[in-house]
Amino acid sequence: MGKTIIVSNRLPVRIERNQEGYRFKASEGGLATGLGSIYKEGNNIWIGWPGAAFEEDSVKGEITAGLARESMKPVFLTPQEVDEYYLGFSNQTLWPAFHYFVQYIRYSEEMWRAYEAANRKFANRILESLEPGDIVWVHDYQLLLVPRMLRQAQPDITIGFFQHIPFPSYEVFRMLPWRRALLDGMLGADYVGFHTYDDMRHFLSSVHRLAGYDYNRNEIQLEDRLVVADSLPMGIDYEKFAQNAVSSPTEERMERYRKSFGATQVVLSVDRLDYSKGIPKRLQAFDLFLEQNPQYQEKVSLLLIVVPSRDAVPSYQELKEEVDQLVGQINSKYGRISWTPIHYFYRSYPLPALSAFYRLSDVAMITPLRDGMNLVCKEYIASRPHKTGVLVLSEMAGSAKELSDALLVNPNDLQAMADTLKKALTMPKEEQRQHIEVMQQSLQKYTIFNWVELFIGNLQWVKSKQHRLDTLQLAPSRQAQLLKEYQKSATRLLLLDYDGTLVPFHIDPLACKPDEELNSLLQELGNDPKNHLVIISGRKADTLGEWLAHLPVKLVAEHGIWTKEKDADWQLNPELVQPEWKEEARKIINFYVDRTPGSFLEEKRHALVWHYRKVEKGLGELRSAELNSHLKHFMEQQRLQVLHGNHVVEVKPNAVNKGTIAQKLHQKLEPDFTLALGDDRTDEDTFASLPETAYTLKVGKGASRARYSVEDYQAVRNLLKSLQDL
Ligand code: UDP
Ligand code: G6P
Repeated sequence: MGKTIIVSNRLPVRIERNQEGYRFKASEGGLATGLGSIYKEGNNIWIGWPGAAFEEDSVKGEITAGLARESMKPVFLTPQEVDEYYLGFSNQTLWPAFHYFVQYIRYSEEMWRAYEAANRKFANRILESLEPGDIVWVHDYQLLLVPRMLRQAQPDITIGFFQHIPFPSYEVFRMLPWRRALLDGMLGADYVGFHTYDDMRHFLSSVHRLAGYDYNRNEIQLEDRLVVADSLPMGIDYEKFAQNAVSSPTEERMERYRKSFGATQVVLSVDRLDYSKGIPKRLQAFDLFLEQNPQYQEKVSLLLIVVPSRDAVPSYQELKEEVDQLVGQINSKYGRISWTPIHYFYRSYPLPALSAFYRLSDVAMITPLRDGMNLVCKEYIASRPHKTGVLVLSEMAGSAKELSDALLVNPNDLQAMADTLKKALTMPKEEQRQHIEVMQQSLQKYTIFNWVELFIGNLQWVKSKQHRLDTLQLAPSRQAQLLKEYQKSATRLLLLDYDGTLVPFHIDPLACKPDEELNSLLQELGNDPKNHLVIISGRKADTLGEWLAHLPVKLVAEHGIWTKEKDADWQLNPELVQPEWKEEARKIINFYVDRTPGSFLEEKRHALVWHYRKVEKGLGELRSAELNSHLKHFMEQQRLQVLHGNHVVEVKPNAVNKGTIAQKLHQKLEPDFTLALGDDRTDEDTFASLPETAYTLKVGKGASRARYSVEDYQAVRNLLKSLQDL
């Protein structure tokens, strides 16, 4: 087992300078606390930006040495990188887009290039430290391209990615010109985590629609790898907050603050200065509340903590002005000498002070317009030892999914917020206790430590599942063994699928006639009296006959409904049911043909096939899944089966598939060498029906029941040529 490398844009560290030089203290942030349990173990490390632009080499050296003592490695950013990558693409393109503030999105090619370059810088730093067996855990939207960059350099490594902010709906994500590269970047990871089910769902939908990958539940099958997306809400270090809340420094501090507030009830608001946090709307709601409920004037104060953040970004500067103005207006409108409606602090507080604020406040009003998770509300709940207090929480925060016992509000609905605030301030103590109790229990059960453990556990599970699904490449040594066995055998069964195996796919199914090379290959192989060459295809008998009947091969058409020996007529499979079912099935399929532009119905003698290769990406997959279940429901009583293949849904009589035919041929012939080649889901039946000694080869990437895999039809032809040359 190797080490774990944690990577985030910002290192979880506070850098202090004293007479002796720079000092480093791990920060109290949630992530730092949670990951603290692993990043300081063994050789584990945390890689990230130390947060300021250090230019001199001697200073950088000192910082690097100091961080190394805390198991951290810095990625130094130049002022221009800070400007274009961090303040630029990360916080003026991705942050607004992912929080649905589309009006703030900046579309700058220059910033994008800087983002790519900075991600490359992080990736290189990781690669310098990477050793076999290591796990890399990448965090958040600033580093979306890093997983793929690592994967390209080291295809087998284990990479987890967690996104701490929302993943927007496809409708918003698709606005970004760099959407595909961003998705591909994330898909470099093996396991991709989000805070909520909705974020995960949005991600899967974008992956499907923009990159065209199929997914099953939350598993995405790439050409060469399985990627799993998951929703895994982040918890807090519950005990730390609970214990801090009852520590004597907190109690003392709280008493002091309480005295200055007198008898007024306190409503707490804590956020970074960010437009996603909905601070102006909260202030407007407080204004409305005081206006509509004058009896509360002098009885309640808002403690407004605003933490400075990204203040070089214009939209953040504008927000600061707006908040300052609103606070000024409200305080001047209602204030008295003896009472200040809003106590406003524009600064950051360390945990002891924050803990006292949490203890002191009767109500916490956390109403972001959009928030990936929001930890402040969880920390407030954990800091209530007497189980009193009320949490007013925005429905738009990821944490609202877990804290359903809070008073949930729509942060855009000022009236609802004002009403909810009143409800919170008048809630009976017993009711408060009931709600807080439920929320405390759930936060206690699922802490940051469980979150870390679950993430790493799931990542390892994905990795082991990938290994189970991997089909071994037909490496030269294995091919040599295959050729050896072929050569010494006396009776050989060669089962070859046609489309995608012997010829490439074509948008027009009638344009895949065998070329000269294929004709001569099949001719030569078929001429060998030891060989029993079978083309086993889903195609119509007529087409197969027209293209291949002149060759010394046996033909199996429509997945086994028809068979034809060389120079003989087509034979119908005797196990077929009568085709009365077709009328009803045709009606169902036509219903989908009408509603799905680009799809069409192919009528085979004993099967009906709905094709959707030419249908718009996404729509075809959606409709095919609907049609599949529609048909399955109808077919249940009918001894028929529905096959969902490569851009086709096919209905045909039961008991006839490539597998049953392959098995029969094998039983009859009793070959001492069997080779089966196929690329499609329908070929999986063939692979599964043959004994383990058979050489079953999947053409292309992806999970399969075949023993080995080869790259494409060209590799198949090369293999057949080698057989022919023996
Ligand atoms: N925080 C802090 N000092 C402050 C205000 C907030 O240390 O003065 C911490 C707070 O304890 C919480 C974090 O900052 O852990 C904010 O996280 P949250 O998820 O609520 O919002 P974010 O800033 O990540 O969007
Ligand atoms: C959010 C993001 C983090 C980020 C933090 C503070 O929580 O998800 O990735 O570190 O805000 O923002 P900053 O820009 O100061 O790092």
